[in-house]
Amino acid sequence: MKRPIIITGFMGSGKTKVASELARRMNLVTVDLDNWIAEREGRSAAQIIVEDGEPAFRAIESNALRDVLQTNAVDIIALGGGAWIEETNRQLIDQYGCTTVWLDAPFEMCWARIETSAEERPLGKTREQSLALYERRRPIYSLAGIHIEILDDNLDDLISRILRTGLQD
Ligand code: S3P
Repeated sequence: MKRPIIITGFMGSGKTKVASELARRMNLVTVDLDNWIAEREGRSAAQIIVEDGEPAFRAIESNALRDVLQTNAVDIIALGGGAWIEETNRQLIDQYGCTTVWLDAPFEMCWARIETSAEERPLGKTREQSLALYERRRPIYSLAGIHIEILDDNLDDLISRILRTGLQD
């Protein structure tokens, strides 16, 4: 059974980019959970949240996470920002013995990316809403096994720091 690496963190912390760069460097297979959901559902995470509500999205997200883990074919999974917050998902991740990495980016960095991104984020519509969510979620992100503080936009440095933790040792 594979023990995938899980990348978590707030919206705009760079999860997708980091997962794909790590996969490239380590020659591993990566999946972005929101993309997986969008392909299967024919709608983006944002669309599902807007049309069906957040609880419906969370149910789809948990099923998707279970399915990705069950394929036993994926080495690195970039979660959506809320997936790690759900206890059932954390338990599932634990059952698979995954290595979990929290990309701890400062709020202002996340917000700048959220604000300028073309991607719709219904749970991060305003600065106030995003900041409240960021503060509320921090203690839960901190339950991840590996804590990577993001200092700037230097992806190379970030990847080197993640690799130096040993990850799958
Ligand atoms: C969410 C984050 C989004 C996406 C959805 C909900 C969240 O993913 O899953 O809009 O609850 O933080 P990103 O973290 O990739 O933006």
